[in-house]
Amino acid sequence: MGRIGDCLGECTRNPGYKDADGDGPAARDNISVSDSEEKRDSIGVKRLSDARDEYTQIKPYAGMPKEVLVLYSSKARYRVPREILFWLTVCCTLALVAVTIAVIALSPKCLSWWQASPVYQIYPRSFKDSDGDGVGDLKGIREKLDHFEYLNIKSIWISPFYRSPMKDFGYDVEDFRDIDPLFGTMKDFEDLLAAMHSKGLKLIMDFIPNHTSDLHRWFNLSRTRDPHYEDYYVWTDCKPDGPKPNNWVSIFGNSSWTYDEVRGQCYLHQFLKEQPDLNFRNPDVIKEMIDIIHFWLEKGVDGFRMDAVKHMLEAPHMRDEPQVDPNKPPELVTTEWDLHSDYTTSQVGLHDILREFRAQMDIYSQEPGRYRFMVTESYDYEEVYKTMMYYGSRLEKEGDFPFNFYLLDLPHNTSGVWAKHLVHLWMGNMPKGKWPNWVVGNHDRTRISSSAGRLYVRAINMLLLTLPGTATTYYGEEIGMENINVTASQIQDPADPQRSPLQWNADTNAGFNEKTNLTWLPLHPDYETVNVEAQMKDDGSVLAQYRFLNTLRQSELPLNRGWFCYVHADANVFSYIRELDGLKRAFLIVVNFGKESAVTDLSSVRELPDELKVLMSTTIANDGKVFPKSRIQTEVGEGLVIQYSTNTRFNPNHPEECYISEKACYLETIDILYKC
Ligand code: GLC
Ligand code: MG
Repeated sequence: MGRIGDCLGECTRNPGYKDADGDGPAARDNISVSDSEEKRDSIGVKRLSDARDEYTQIKPYAGMPKEVLVLYSSKARYRVPREILFWLTVCCTLALVAVTIAVIALSPKCLSWWQASPVYQIYPRSFKDSDGDGVGDLKGIREKLDHFEYLNIKSIWISPFYRSPMKDFGYDVEDFRDIDPLFGTMKDFEDLLAAMHSKGLKLIMDFIPNHTSDLHRWFNLSRTRDPHYEDYYVWTDCKPDGPKPNNWVSIFGNSSWTYDEVRGQCYLHQFLKEQPDLNFRNPDVIKEMIDIIHFWLEKGVDGFRMDAVKHMLEAPHMRDEPQVDPNKPPELVTTEWDLHSDYTTSQVGLHDILREFRAQMDIYSQEPGRYRFMVTESYDYEEVYKTMMYYGSRLEKEGDFPFNFYLLDLPHNTSGVWAKHLVHLWMGNMPKGKWPNWVVGNHDRTRISSSAGRLYVRAINMLLLTLPGTATTYYGEEIGMENINVTASQIQDPADPQRSPLQWNADTNAGFNEKTNLTWLPLHPDYETVNVEAQMKDDGSVLAQYRFLNTLRQSELPLNRGWFCYVHADANVFSYIRELDGLKRAFLIVVNFGKESAVTDLSSVRELPDELKVLMSTTIANDGKVFPKSRIQTEVGEGLVIQYSTNTRFNPNHPEECYISEKACYLETIDILYKC
């Protein structure tokens, strides 16, 4: 065997063992080779017990045989520490699990993207024209994404860009799965979405369930009575020149029934006659709309603004609606204001359909950071309780919020009391735990700068960005754009004055179209001074103030998720506090919506310090001013954000004046928020 045999013999023996017990291996060799079984047993037992005694004398070593290991490991000095270590590990693991559960249970929900940033509405015709045809387009939007980074805005709602004959500028959809060539191609859309996502921006699309264009394939199949599509729209018998089926009127005026020669029946349209109403009592129609929702969610769209939802269902009995003035001759009943729209809006079953839409969106909302947002559009005017139903119920989710249009009425009576009244219409009626929102303009309404007056533009933006909840900004409001005057020959739609091209700079076409001299609507003549570029250079501009307030709101807990408490309202001033339990830093907002300058006395508000320092005024010269709390001065249209430090919160002493969506407290020592 030579060297290998020797080596095997040596190597399987442990030198340490040999060192510790000189004759051990030799003795064992002898026994195993030459002695009888009996002899070997008795000697072996003896030797083992000898060895055991000897082992106790020595230290354990690497590679020791199992018997030795077992012997040592059962000794108290090894067993006890081992058991301590074991139980320590178990306890630590349990403690970690417990702490994790406690942290999760005690942490208030993080704000979702649609809560953290204002929603910015782009009217695509008017935002930026990339190809020089005078009409804005998707590529144009992509060129201007930096604007949102600059403003710290993350949520962008783009009004419709589906293929459309444009009778209602895109709200008459010919194909829900295609892009209108005026705005670009599907590739342009995908590129835009990818570019937005790479910048952390979210894209909200308009979704128009109530009607299609009369050029939509479904309408053609329906009017030719294709068996599957026959009931896709709301049809009823009528004569070509005879009376209308009932007194229902369109939102755009006159009867909402039009005779269709092809089918020989009347169809319903609650908007233009080129926008036939879909029949949501037909389950196939609901299914079609859900498929369209899936189509866009699959593409990665982050949310939908659901258009004109209250009109989706009509009463199947089709009775006349009651007249507001019963004595009015029926032929003069031509506008929505002449009728109580009892049978054409807000019908039973409407919310079930919207909740089904929401449920579909939830399927796509599972991945972290991919929550799909839903906002509904419904003007319910005084019937605020109807609007609130779009928030859904405790058990069933619906929209994340319905648009709150009440602030659009601010110009009706610019005053502190009126501003508070409008704010309270929402805060006082919103279901508990829901998230408020505020709209001061959109493509359907006169710009607030024109209806309220330029003087109030900054104050309105301050209100918008310091109230609790999500602000909506219609393009141009960030620079205080006003309505244009459109001449009779220029007008294409009654709402044109608020849809003029965004004023980017003082160059030709205000930088909206840099290629040709076309713009689909005239620019506002003030564009040489009122434009993004000029305002970026001016610290006191509407734009700079918008940006400052939006950034402040996102970085300050009291503003983005704290309490909102009414403090004061009079003919001029509306004032409120934003604070968070546990946080010393709080904000007092004082806005003068009145017709006169004002001195406001808040000395009775014990929770406020005696001296108040202005963090930001809409009149830049007043930044940093210090007022005694008994004499806070504001000019007409001036708003102040006052930051102060306090140990006494206002909300515990005035619970009936205060609102919060989800309570959270701040622990200053370790800088965390917790549920309280
Ligand atoms: C919504 C839109 C409006 C459109 C109407 C019909 O109210 O905002 O522009 O005309 O629905 O779709
Ligand atoms: Mg309808």
